Amino acid sequence: MSSNPHHTFLIHEQLEKLATFSASPNPSVTRVVFSDEDMSARNYFRQLCEELNLEVTIDAVGNTFARWIGTEPTLPAVATGSHIDAIPDSGMYDGTVGVIGGLEAIRILKQQGVIPKRSIEVILFTAEEPTRYSIGCLGSRMMCGQLTLEKAADFKDQEDVTLKEILALRDFPSDLNGVKMTTGHYHAFVEYHIEQGPILEAENLDIGIVTKIAAPSALRVLLTGKGGHAGCVMMPDRFDAGTAAAEISITVERIAKESASDDTVATTGVFEIKPNAINSIPKEAYLEIDLRDTNLEVRDACLEKIQNEISDICDRRKITADVSLINKDTPAICDETIIDYIEEATKAHNYSYKKMISYAYHDTLFMNQICPTSMIFIPCRGGVSHRSDEYSSPEQIEKGVLVLADTLRALAG
Ligand code: HGY
Ligand code: MN
Ligand code: MN
Repeated sequence: MSSNPHHTFLIHEQLEKLATFSASPNPSVTRVVFSDEDMSARNYFRQLCEELNLEVTIDAVGNTFARWIGTEPTLPAVATGSHIDAIPDSGMYDGTVGVIGGLEAIRILKQQGVIPKRSIEVILFTAEEPTRYSIGCLGSRMMCGQLTLEKAADFKDQEDVTLKEILALRDFPSDLNGVKMTTGHYHAFVEYHIEQGPILEAENLDIGIVTKIAAPSALRVLLTGKGGHAGCVMMPDRFDAGTAAAEISITVERIAKESASDDTVATTGVFEIKPNAINSIPKEAYLEIDLRDTNLEVRDACLEKIQNEISDICDRRKITADVSLINKDTPAICDETIIDYIEEATKAHNYSYKKMISYAYHDTLFMNQICPTSMIFIPCRGGVSHRSDEYSSPEQIEKGVLVLADTLRALAG
């Protein structure tokens, strides 16, 4: 029995409401983790959970769990969910579709009179985006134990505020040890998300079923030169951190393009120079480099090449370089059984679909370390994401929700 496609969806108005909690004006969304906007959005999520009579708990880093208790509550639950934090000037669907869509799926199942054996839980993960702490998936990394709390507690944001300090300010529970989950805590995890790429739209498909998630790695680079007066220091006497940074950025792009794998992608997403004054030779440059691939060996070979070329460039230019690894994660191979459940649900609705790789990372990358996972994708217009013109239509969003509802029902028994 597939879920009723004629259900009255509340997700659209709820996504619109969620988008109003933003530090930037509509249509762009900026909602950095633990900002006032994020806290308001979290409160709104909790209100929606309470309206659905879900049991809400929050851990020490703000991961929020909304549980529909099943008839056998001691069995490992079936989980879904995603994130609501949004990078600066981005869109209103990245992450939120999976969080609000999880609630809508539960609403559909409740209306159908479904009584799940296993509890079904919607998770709002803390800090999927790297905006504040330069590392993505902070909450799910801790849940799977890939990142320890001791290490994360001292992470500093751009204002030098540590994670520990902001958590205390936002009065989350102080039990920092309650975050790590054991393997077996969940029966399965299925994340519903916009594709953030062009494939489903280009092939005119309704649903993507994720088989593999590319693994991100990130480098932090601080370059120090001599700076000085832009008019009075002759060219042979310059040690320009800005041009060294520019050469590094071009090199990063070249290494990704020349890689042995078509799936290698890289960019220097953070590029700051100091003092950033027209008549002053850049004395310092701060870079954050994002490098990914579905193939771990190729990705790591590119990472090493980038690090070697950074030191060659800086030796030649007599610039001091401080290079540190932020993260280098392992690709996720999704679970065949979960993929089959999603495929069954998709076929039951006669939706068109394909199995595919996720080139964006998601909390599923880490949930995959503690339980079997897969993801449900829907198309987004022009493949655009992380931009204010990010868009998926109500019809596309509803199809994803219906597939999610049927997948959760089947998994929850
Ligand atoms: O960058 C990513 O892949 C994710 O959207 N944070
Ligand atoms: Mn994102
Ligand atoms: Mn996302």
